[in-house]
Amino acid sequence: MVNTKVSLCGIELDNPIIPASGTFGYGAEFAKLYDIDCLGTFSFKGTTREPRFGNPTPRIAEAPGGMLNSVGLQNPGIDHVIEHELPEMKRYFHKPVMANVSGFSVEEFAEVCGRLDTCEQVGWLEVNISCPNVHGGGMSFGTDAKMAARVTSAVKRATRKPVLMKLSPNVTDIAEIARACADAGADGISLINTLMGMRIDPRRRAPILANRTGGLSGGAVFPIALRMVWQVYEVVDVPIVGLGGVRSAEDAIEMMLAGATAVEVGAENLVNPFACRNIVNELPAAMEKYGIRDLNEIIGGAH
Ligand code: FUM
Repeated sequence: MVNTKVSLCGIELDNPIIPASGTFGYGAEFAKLYDIDCLGTFSFKGTTREPRFGNPTPRIAEAPGGMLNSVGLQNPGIDHVIEHELPEMKRYFHKPVMANVSGFSVEEFAEVCGRLDTCEQVGWLEVNISCPNVHGGGMSFGTDAKMAARVTSAVKRATRKPVLMKLSPNVTDIAEIARACADAGADGISLINTLMGMRIDPRRRAPILANRTGGLSGGAVFPIALRMVWQVYEVVDVPIVGLGGVRSAEDAIEMMLAGATAVEVGAENLVNPFACRNIVNELPAAMEKYGIRDLNEIIGGAH
């Protein structure tokens, strides 16, 4: 019998597997396929103050070992999430959920987090300062240490819930940004978001994505994510949620050895909607294979 329970910012998870924001909606479609209470939790779609239609199509392009997206933070807005999505979610998910929050100003991040502060279903706020697909927001907050710290402080003032800052890999020094967030009061760090990339259609001699560039995710980015989790673990004392190209229970174990307390799974949900359930089910056998009795023993174990 192995122990898969971990504690993330003071809240116990039955296991560390968390579908990543933007690949799981608000959970409803997946709950029709399997009992999503088997998950540690899930991170719902990045939510902004106002509803957003997102970027023009095409928004998705294939890539070797993964995919590009330029969704553009499509979401129904915080009022709709509080009035409709969260009450609906009570019918099919019975654990604290992770709320992913996006914004276009420091004030917007703080306001949306403040609105979610009173929602008892929300366990953690994952503050997305790393979306590469919008202009004047998103990643621009996560590529500058001072700006990342400003958002962190503002959000921390607006909520008593644990705040995880979600970082962009599109930086020279990920450790500097993570340290700035932790120093500003972040309760945890989640990383990585997608890597900026592009594809060109040779027939049209033009970018495939209407937004020209998009974020690369999928198996191809796993070694980059792992390297960054490793680097951040070396410089912060707060828990890390590792994500980027995780596709299996063995990948999750690697992430934890690099320093992650919990592990998000993103693009793989779009390849196989049962991916997260499969990883949860396969985790005990993978642990036994490597002689792991308790996942807590291996967090950062490769350092
Ligand atoms: O474009 C998007 O909605 C993606 C968001 C993200 O990668 O943070």
